[in-house]
Amino acid sequence: MSNQYAHIIGWGKYLPPRVVTNEEISRIVDTSDEWIMARTGIRERRIAGPGETTATLAFEAAARALEVADVHPSEVDLIIVATSTPETIFPATASLVQDYLGSRNAGAFDLSAACSGFVYALSMASNAISAGSSQVALVIGAETMSRVLDWQDRGTCILFGDGAGAVVLKGSSVPGGLLASSLRSDGSGADLLRLPAVYSSPVPGLDPTFSANGHPRTITMNGRQIFRFATQVVSDIVEEVMEKADLTPDDVALIIPHQANARIVEAAAKKLKMPVERFFLNLEHAGNTSAASIPIALCDAVEAGRLAPNDNVIFVGFGGGLTWAASVLKWDVTPPPVSLSQRQWRRMRYVIARTRSRLRQTGRSVSSMVSGSPTPEARMRDAERNEKKSRSKKKRKA
Ligand code: UT7
Repeated sequence: MSNQYAHIIGWGKYLPPRVVTNEEISRIVDTSDEWIMARTGIRERRIAGPGETTATLAFEAAARALEVADVHPSEVDLIIVATSTPETIFPATASLVQDYLGSRNAGAFDLSAACSGFVYALSMASNAISAGSSQVALVIGAETMSRVLDWQDRGTCILFGDGAGAVVLKGSSVPGGLLASSLRSDGSGADLLRLPAVYSSPVPGLDPTFSANGHPRTITMNGRQIFRFATQVVSDIVEEVMEKADLTPDDVALIIPHQANARIVEAAAKKLKMPVERFFLNLEHAGNTSAASIPIALCDAVEAGRLAPNDNVIFVGFGGGLTWAASVLKWDVTPPPVSLSQRQWRRMRYVIARTRSRLRQTGRSVSSMVSGSPTPEARMRDAERNEKKSRSKKKRKA
C-alpha cells in the first residue's frame, strides 16, 4: 500500500438543455403531473438532443470537473465511466472521453452496475489510488436513458432522464477523502430491472431492435418490488458504511442518495432515524439519471452550499443487478479560483485534442495506403468493384 488517500478535488455536471415536463409526458401516456409528483417527486427531466451521446455528456461533465480541480487532462491516469447506456459495448465510452479530453496518459474503461455504478466506480478509483497504481482519476456517471425507454410504458418512462456528472479524485498523503465503501449485489433479482444488451441473443429473421424473446430492447421494471428492495437496503448499507468509517449518524452532514423516488428516501430516513432534510434531493428537476444521478446531485449540493469543509458525506446507490453500494467521504477541498482566460484556454485544449485525434486517424489511413494494407473502406470498395466485374463477366458469358 502506498498510504495515499483519495480526495475529491473537482466536480462537474452536464444536463442537456431540452426539458421534458410531466405535462408533456401526460400527452404520450395515460398519466398526470399530479400522479408523478405525488408518487415520485419528479416534475421534469432532461433529454439528450440529436447531436448528444452518452460520451459527449460525459465529456462535458469531465471537462467541468477538471476545470474546478485545475488539473490538466494529461495528468489524469484513469478514467472510469459508470453507465448502462454506452453507444457501443466497445470502444468503451471512457475511451471516447479520454480521446475528447486528450488525456493521453490515461487508462479508460466502463463500469456496469446500473444505478449503483457511480459509487462502485468511486470505490474502484479510490482503491487504485490507495494501491499506488493511479494518482489522478476521473470518475464519471453518464446516461442517455431516454434512448432505452419504452415511451408507451408509464411505469418507467415517467422516471428517467439524461445527464452526466463527474469528479476528479487525487491521491494525497493527507488523511481524509474516501473513508470507506461497501458494495453489494443480489443477482437473484436480475429480472426485476432489466435492459437487454444489443445483439445479446441474435435470432435470425427477428427485427434487430427486438431481443430474442420478442421484447423490445428497452428497460423493464417491477416498480413495486424495486421500491421494496430499495427501502430495505438503503438504510442497511448506510449503517454499515458508517460503522466501517467509525461514524455515528450525528457525524454525517449530508447523504446524497441515488435520485429514484422521494418516497424511498423518506422511508430510508425514517428507518435510520435521521431527519429527511439531511438527504439531498434534486430529482424534481433532473429525474432519475441512473448512474449519473449521484454526481449530478453532488454538484447541485455544492452549488446550494450544502457542503462545508470537513463535512462527512455519504453516497448511496441502488438499482439493477440487483446492486447497492455506499461510500463515506470527508469533504475537504477548497478548489483554486480559475480565471476566465484560463477557462477559455482550457476549452481550446479540447479543440486541439480533437484535431490531434483526427490527424492520427488520417495518419493511419495514409500509412495503410502507403504500406499497401487497405483500410476497411478501401476493402469494401474493392469487394464491390470485384463483384460488379464478376457480374458483368457472367452476363457476357450468358
Ligand atoms: O433507478 C432504479 C431504481 N428504480 C426505482 O427505485 C423505482 C422504484 N419504484 C418506484 O419508484 C415506484 O414503484 C413507481 C413510481 C415506479 C410506481 O409507483 P407505485 O406507487 O409503486 O405504483 P404501482 O406500481 O403500485 O401502481 C399503482 C397504480 C396502478 O394502478 P392500479 O392497478 O392500482 O389501478 C398503476 O397502474 O398506479 C398506476 N400507475 C400509474 N398511474 C398514473 C402506474 N404508473 C402510473 C403512471 N401514472 N405513470
